Amino acid sequence: MSLANRRILLGVSGGIAAYKACELVRRLRDLGAEVRVAMTESATRFVSAATFQALSGQPVRVSLWDESAEAAMGHIELARWAERVLIAPASADVLARLAHGHADDLLTTLCLASAAPLYVAPAMNQQMWAHPAVQANLALLRQRGVVVLGPAAGSQACGDVGSGRMLEPHELRDALVASFGGGALAGRAVVVSAGPTYEDIDPVRFIGNRSSGRMGFAVAEAAAQAGATVTLVAGPVGLPTPAGVARRLDVRSAAQMQAAVQEACAGADIYIGAAAVGDYRPATVADRKLKKRAGADLGLQLVENPDILAGLAAQTVHPFLVGFAAETHDVAMYAQDKLQRKGLDMIAANRVGGGLGFESADNALTLYWPGGSLELNRAPKEALARALVEQVAARYRAVRA
Ligand code: CTP
Repeated sequence: MSLANRRILLGVSGGIAAYKACELVRRLRDLGAEVRVAMTESATRFVSAATFQALSGQPVRVSLWDESAEAAMGHIELARWAERVLIAPASADVLARLAHGHADDLLTTLCLASAAPLYVAPAMNQQMWAHPAVQANLALLRQRGVVVLGPAAGSQACGDVGSGRMLEPHELRDALVASFGGGALAGRAVVVSAGPTYEDIDPVRFIGNRSSGRMGFAVAEAAAQAGATVTLVAGPVGLPTPAGVARRLDVRSAAQMQAAVQEACAGADIYIGAAAVGDYRPATVADRKLKKRAGADLGLQLVENPDILAGLAAQTVHPFLVGFAAETHDVAMYAQDKLQRKGLDMIAANRVGGGLGFESADNALTLYWPGGSLELNRAPKEALARALVEQVAARYRAVRA
């Protein structure tokens, strides 16, 4: 990994996570980046400008009205200098001001004056993060191409638990490395399937499952962050398309998912099957709503669906194949059996139940591949997805490169 001679403007806004931005500067410089720091007034209440000056080896800017700093490198010049602008932490206030194009301090002015891609790493209390005003501002920023990194979930400085923790410095550094094409999956085409499938019984009823799609969507986002060109094939879920995903194909049934995956996998390097594909579908779909007939058995006939992963594995040329195995018991045994039976390169196994799995925010996975395994401990799905993608990239390189 390298950021040699890359010019990164780090904006620091007011929040307790500002202390983590100090380590971020070090990590960016360790990879050879030139870092210049612009702080908001309130950020200086958490960490002093002198700290960032020492860590970056460059003067730190706080005010638009600093004559000596303007004489050395004017703010327009600084905005043009940057190849990437990263605001970490990005407070609710700074996100609001950016969303509405304010230029009432140095940092927001720099963002308007810079043509460089803008990355924001939000950090705030979980209640603030969930507020519709904050989410509406983020939606506006995303629409304009701003990349939102995180936040993670977990315990917060204020004592709350929830979403709103800034991503760790190494995760932010990795996102910047990937943005320059140096990610672990740079130049790779990756297809990810996610969510449940619905198999229609009649116009109002279907057979579905409890998959929320969150794990698969997090995997798609992590693969994009690692530099891959990602196609996301999504079953029926109400989730927004993750940042950086190049193409999304929405499907409903297993048959539709198979067709979309087959099409997307032509020429792809890696397929990650995170979808919970329904194994059976009704033999016929009634074109009118079935009416209740008291005392009578519905007589629903089910037929087997095609296995998407096994279908890909049977082709002579196929992508590196990663499956998921959600099990309620004997996880290791079933996972290893699926790895072998479906002809996979890797399988990510998890136990469903006990607060983990389908409907929870956290997950824990054990990865198996021919001849090896690795535990990924309990973590929010987003963090786990990044760890999984790292391992997929490493195995892919070992087997295919
Ligand atoms: N899978 C698939 N096509 C199917 C069923 C499953 O591609 N028709 C994929 C899933 O996307 C997942 C993996 O196979 O990556 C394992 O799914 P799972 O439902 O656990 O496996 P099954 O083979 O259906 O086994 P079982 O339901 O008996 O546990």
